[in-house]
Amino acid sequence: MTADLESTARALVAGGKGILAADETPGTLTRRLDALKIVSTPDSRRDYREMFFTTPGIAEFISGVIMQDETIRQKSTKEILLAEVLAQQGILPGIKVDNGAKPLAGTPGENITEGLDGLRERLKEYRGTGARFAKWRAVIAVSDTLPSATCVNVNAHALARYAVLCQEQAIVPIVEPEVLMDGSHGIERCEEVTANVLHAVFNALFEQKVYLEGMLLKPNMVISGIKCERQASVEEVAAATVRCLSRHVPAAVPGIVFLSGGQNHLVATAHLSAINQLEEPRPWTLSFSYGRALQDEALRAWRGKSENLKAGQRAFYHRAKCDSAAALGKYTESMESEPAAA
Ligand code: 13P
Repeated sequence: MTADLESTARALVAGGKGILAADETPGTLTRRLDALKIVSTPDSRRDYREMFFTTPGIAEFISGVIMQDETIRQKSTKEILLAEVLAQQGILPGIKVDNGAKPLAGTPGENITEGLDGLRERLKEYRGTGARFAKWRAVIAVSDTLPSATCVNVNAHALARYAVLCQEQAIVPIVEPEVLMDGSHGIERCEEVTANVLHAVFNALFEQKVYLEGMLLKPNMVISGIKCERQASVEEVAAATVRCLSRHVPAAVPGIVFLSGGQNHLVATAHLSAINQLEEPRPWTLSFSYGRALQDEALRAWRGKSENLKAGQRAFYHRAKCDSAAALGKYTESMESEPAAA
């Protein structure tokens, strides 16, 4: 069991590949589709997902896809389960299993991620439909006074409970403690909060006997708040991110896959490449598990129209190719003008 978990975790980050996070809830995806005047229905959401999942050649850059409950139950237009569509190309199907961030009673302005009740049974069902890995996202807001120790500790505890339940069902947990980039704080404050959060998370993972070799960490990069007057340079973000991870993530963890968190897609690619170009030795593979940064260009190219399907797939192929190069530290801006091949 442990050997299987470790080989799946390693496969998800091998060879410059990364993960597509396609696990927006129907509510969140509807908001994104509405913004482009695309009518959101179960079928249109299925068409949108299918565009990504059937992009020709995409398995060269994408090792796994995180789906949402609605998606993992859907069939393609050719009547094949979408999890099977992925598996046929050698892409590992994954599933988001948290029930979202809800207000944390007693600490105004902060959230706790819910979904532990009945999780063992849901994981068993998802494993039966082909899921090989899972995701649970905790969100940590930053201000001069936040996060509270309460918020950090209860979210760390829930992440560890989730992770150990996944491993019991032979599912690799992606542990995602996201320190939000909303706010006017500087990069130093982001580093301080990220350090505290990672420390609490690995403490909880240790206490609850999570097998570190059989998991992946999905953190934020260490970055300036979106409203901060001084935006840190790409080199500063890379150095602060690797320093923070080196101090707080055990070497037994096989891979770290960053979220994009609202960064522009070009910036998210440049940051990942700079991180991988640093000379410091590091024990884990550093790759991506982007949502918006991988999807945004394709969504704008597609616009809900079947005649734009190929254009959407070309945009996705191009972005995934750039992010995969970044995971190897080999991305250059000149790649942006190369024709996409999908
Ligand atoms: P973003 O890359 O859009 O932040 O999404 C990644 C993700 O899975 C958030 O939970």
